[in-house]
Amino acid sequence: MSGTTEAHGLTNPEGGFPPPAEFTAQANVGEEAYERAAADRVGFWEDAARRLDWTQEWDQALDWSNPPFAKWFAGGKLNVAVNCVDRHVDAGHGEQVAYHWVGEPGDTRTITYAQLKDEVCRAANALTELGVQSGDRVAIYLPMIPEAVVSMLACARIGAVHMVVFGGFSPDALASRITDAGAKVVITADGGYRRGAPSALKPNVDEALTKTEGVRSVLVVKRTEQEVEWTEGRDLWWHDVVGGQSTEHQADSFDAEHPLYIMYTSGTTAKPKGILHTSGGYLTQVSYTHWATFDIKPDTDVFWTAADVGWVTGHSYIVYGPLANRTTSVMYEGTPDTPHQGRWWEIVQEYGVTVLYTAPTTIRTFMKWGEDVPAGFDLSSLRLLGSVGEPINPEAWLWYHKIIGGGRCPVMDTWWQTETGAHMVTPLPGVTTLKPGSAQRPFPGIAASVVDEEGKPIEAGATGYLVLTEPWPAMLRTIWGDDDRYKDTYWSRYGAGVYFAGDGAKLDEDGDIWLLGRVDDVMNVSGHRISTTEVESALVSHPTVAEAAVVGATDPTTGQGIVAFVILRGDAEDSGEELVKTLRQHVRKEIGPIASPRQIMVVAELPKTRSGKIMRRLLRDIAENRELGDVSTLTDSSVMDLISSKLPGAKED
Ligand code: PRX
Repeated sequence: MSGTTEAHGLTNPEGGFPPPAEFTAQANVGEEAYERAAADRVGFWEDAARRLDWTQEWDQALDWSNPPFAKWFAGGKLNVAVNCVDRHVDAGHGEQVAYHWVGEPGDTRTITYAQLKDEVCRAANALTELGVQSGDRVAIYLPMIPEAVVSMLACARIGAVHMVVFGGFSPDALASRITDAGAKVVITADGGYRRGAPSALKPNVDEALTKTEGVRSVLVVKRTEQEVEWTEGRDLWWHDVVGGQSTEHQADSFDAEHPLYIMYTSGTTAKPKGILHTSGGYLTQVSYTHWATFDIKPDTDVFWTAADVGWVTGHSYIVYGPLANRTTSVMYEGTPDTPHQGRWWEIVQEYGVTVLYTAPTTIRTFMKWGEDVPAGFDLSSLRLLGSVGEPINPEAWLWYHKIIGGGRCPVMDTWWQTETGAHMVTPLPGVTTLKPGSAQRPFPGIAASVVDEEGKPIEAGATGYLVLTEPWPAMLRTIWGDDDRYKDTYWSRYGAGVYFAGDGAKLDEDGDIWLLGRVDDVMNVSGHRISTTEVESALVSHPTVAEAAVVGATDPTTGQGIVAFVILRGDAEDSGEELVKTLRQHVRKEIGPIASPRQIMVVAELPKTRSGKIMRRLLRDIAENRELGDVSTLTDSSVMDLISSKLPGAKED
């Protein structure tokens, strides 16, 4: 860790940080929400659902007759895009800014709700003209430009299911997702700007489409003006096809359980899971949590989720939550240090950002760059801060609170997942006395518990597994095309009604929850979920590698770093640095740059249990330079000596 609490002169007061008086007085949601939800959980969510416009009221708020397959607000009808855009325009807010968009090179676009409505209608007409119908899947592979939001909403408007793939994924990863989802249309761009340079996307789509069938049309947004290869009859420019459409579009309503989107996320096997979210319950919970956790005041707040729309955080808190609440948001295309390390703070100052939501890994990076950087900007507009993606260590929390928030902004540490769709465990700004490092309390209407191996609730002070014991509106409905995997992965460990989140947690004396990280073979690198098995299978697909084991080792900046141990094939030569470079490149090609190992060590053996399972715990000890833990279950404990003896040859960047 670069900065200790002491080094920054930060203190963690005994008893925590009480809610500031102005929040207690004016917060959207107070203590009574917990009471109301405890008395009538489903009724509480029905009230939240009534914040939206429905063209038909639901018959049944929750149908849990066939767990773990939930239905929320069944029989109710709504249009998600109309709720996010049209209803605000119809209510006279068309001139309000929906997005202050900032391109990395410094170009900007201001998009009002009225303009957003026109663009979404045009894109909806264009998709319809391309033959996209309700229920069809559309892949979106775009940089952080407004067309990403427009594309998502256009799909929602016509009932098509979007499947956004983060621009940092490789052609292979894109292809396998397109195949699994059965997408017909891909929306992409020539490229986007990252780290001061145009970064091409279209070539990745071209390559992906050599590996999957079924895509008829590729819509291409012109962003960087890079040269692109063109497949006649398949590729179409966005400005030609969308630009010429009418801004009139009659939106149908869809059932509350109509699929809204698929988002792939890493599981414990090599095959990513297509998490399916539906319409009414999802929009209810993302909009309500956004309004409650961040205390959003639509007339005055300028909200910024500094994440990519390619992840669930972007879906829920750049697009659906903020728009449903008629929020003015900032959207930034690029990296935080381009062209200088104060870029974010310049944006906060320029747009008067009031609420900022980001990941601990970024906060730790800012700590490393030093407090002089933010000190050069006026951050006095900020009134609330949020954190998501991984446990936030108290040092980073305190630094964020003091250096960015000037000591006046409550910090909301929000625990949730792609699968949960929306905040699940978080403080509330007008209610909670904050404890740095703890996500604290289940959100009103959420039933979370920490249990032991047998599923029994643990005592205060103990550690166990986080589970969710009642269904919630924004929960995933299944894994796309694989109901069995859905049941096995989440609902089998403790019985059909209990959701296993895959996170370890501790309960303190007050009953507050402290998240401890994943307990399965999933790593969390810079807030991105990557499966150890996925990286292992990428490594063994290289001709030089016979076997691979991957662990997530603690990393002061990224939370975890990927460390790989590989055994070479008999005829392969260990060419040192050269080999490590080749393997790293191979993983980038197979999965994407986010999965590139921080360290690759060539070893002669891997530690295995008698049943043949790789003992990742021991490898983690090595990767973190710790004394080795218990080796008694190893088939051959001399293996560890063998590995350690190979370590002088360990390769690092
Ligand atoms: O391990 C938890 C961690 O991120 C995982 C979910 O990752 P993903 O589906 O990619 O969604 C990230 C954005 C919601 C969780 O299983 N995680 C997320 N938020 C927190 C967290 N761990 C601790 N504290 C958090 N606030």
